[in-house]
Amino acid sequence: MSNLLSVMNDGYEIPSIGYGTWMVPDAESEALVREALEAGYRHIDTAMIYENEVGVGKGIARSGLPREEIFVTTKLWITDMNDPQGALTTSLRKLQLDYVDLYLIHWPAPKVNLYAKAWDALIELREKGLVRSIGVSNFNPEHLDALKGSGVTPCINQVEAHPSFPNTEVITANTAQGILTECYCPLGRGKYLTSPVLSGIASHLDATEAQVVLAWHLSKGYIPLPKSATPARIKENLDVQKIELADEDIAAIDSLATGRKICADPADFNG
Ligand SMILES: NC(=O)c1ccc[n+]([C@@H]2O[C@H](COP(=O)([O-])OP(=O)(O)OC[C@H]3O[C@@H](n4cnc5c(N)ncnc54)[C@H](OP(=O)(O)O)[C@@H]3O)[C@@H](O)[C@H]2O)c1
Repeated sequence: MSNLLSVMNDGYEIPSIGYGTWMVPDAESEALVREALEAGYRHIDTAMIYENEVGVGKGIARSGLPREEIFVTTKLWITDMNDPQGALTTSLRKLQLDYVDLYLIHWPAPKVNLYAKAWDALIELREKGLVRSIGVSNFNPEHLDALKGSGVTPCINQVEAHPSFPNTEVITANTAQGILTECYCPLGRGKYLTSPVLSGIASHLDATEAQVVLAWHLSKGYIPLPKSATPARIKENLDVQKIELADEDIAAIDSLATGRKICADPADFNG
């Protein structure tokens, strides 16, 4: 299956759906990453803090696919913001890679106040060829604005977004600066998939509720990163690229917004 691609503001392409690996234990991640790659994913999202880069790296290495066919993202954790090159070197060793396609600052942590300095370091890592594209995660508009002095706009801002928490203010700021939005928790961790609105659209399209939600992300130009440890769902979540939602379906899904986050609370990490 060929993957839809989005184009980032540095000209590189990124597959429009990624396989998320948070909460995938290291010991299981090799098999699940291989399962995802066999199902057709070409975009894998991990992070140092997920403690599964070794298993993810084995899954990539043993997939038999050429390195350049797989888009790999990892992330710089808050406690490493003083030494991004050291952190990336460790991640690359664990992943068995010479470079990652995308390196993200995981959280801005404004009270630590190192994210602008870390951003300058990511620009240097890109110049050294250790990362191809650079971006951020969990950045609010004011954090994005604080990077403007660097002269380099992030390619990606990875944030929580799903129908019940559409995160409109942040995504509007991303779009205004030419930053693509990656959505974590794209299925709302599976908590709202029983909505009658989703079920109605799903039965009409002969799809599942999860596929309807992922098609909603694609209709908005977002890049969802669904995680599943279940082989049938891994396949199902990629098999959405041909689903076209009608305008009235998109409007009905938009109406499910409650404004409540269900994933990480920024207060936990932004201190
Ligand atoms: N940047 C950040 O701060 C940040 C934060 C959180 C997450 N992330 C990234 O985003 C990825 C996705 O987020 P997430 O894992 O929190 O949430 P998610 O993808 O919205 O939800 C995962 C949950 O949904 C279930 N699920 C998956 N596919 C399904 C389907 N087709 N039907 C029904 N249930 C389904 C999974 O169950 P099973 O596994 O049992 O199938 C799992 O319990 C993460 O893995 C990670 O890569 C980034």
